[in-house]
Amino acid sequence: MKAITLTQLQQMKQNGEKIAMLTAYDASFAALEHQAGVDVLLVGDSLGMVVQGHRSTVPVRTTDMAYHTRCVRQGAADAFLLVDMPFMANCQLTDTVKNAKRLMQAGANMVKLEGSHWLTEHIQLLLQAGVPSCAHIGLTPQSVNQLGGYKVQGRDKNNADTLIASAQALEQAGAALLLIECVPSPLAKRITQQLSIPVIGIGAGADCDGQVLVMHDALGLNHHSAPKFVENFLAGQSSILDAFSAYVKAVKASTFPTAQHSYTE
Ligand code: KIV
Repeated sequence: MKAITLTQLQQMKQNGEKIAMLTAYDASFAALEHQAGVDVLLVGDSLGMVVQGHRSTVPVRTTDMAYHTRCVRQGAADAFLLVDMPFMANCQLTDTVKNAKRLMQAGANMVKLEGSHWLTEHIQLLLQAGVPSCAHIGLTPQSVNQLGGYKVQGRDKNNADTLIASAQALEQAGAALLLIECVPSPLAKRITQQLSIPVIGIGAGADCDGQVLVMHDALGLNHHSAPKFVENFLAGQSSILDAFSAYVKAVKASTFPTAQHSYTE
């Protein structure tokens, strides 16, 4: 597989080609995902739940993220790696710089920060340092204790307006990608149309520029009950490589997600 660059991701948005992203945490699965044509491998802090067995992503440390980034990079030398800044790794500007440096030096191509408009300063600073960033808005799992659970966001007008304003501010600050989680599809569609950077959705409907799933969910390996936006791509396939290829094919052909995977207003 050829290496993907940030410029190519931007071109994919312009050309209307959907971006397929999947989480990866180790070398073996990363190699298969890259072979299957997954455009972006996300070393997600969801590893706290699916690898480490925690009930949330809060216990994950930058040290864990750097370790898994190195593992993934070993398996997929040419892949585009997006890596999560974990819980509290980007609260202070000085922490943002220090922790992004660790993740970039471990093999990341871009870092992802959960939050809203307050991330703008952090994104500007990273941009000045030559570090591309992805802003993650909507349901931000690191804030689960504040949100009171893993709930759909942006259902009421105030919250929807705040998400739209945040998305615009984050693009203006220099974010290279936006990830939007668990919002009604019409809201995600509006944001995707308004922004010129690629918007990747999870539980955000079919109109985003790309899709992401947690790898374990895409393989039907969820320990807890699966959210409605999840699809088991291993069902009916004879190998994990085939399951990853089926995921990429479905995202590219816009056959995933469907209305049954999406939330309404
Ligand atoms: O950590 C992660 O896997 C994520 C996805 C839920 C998008 O951020």
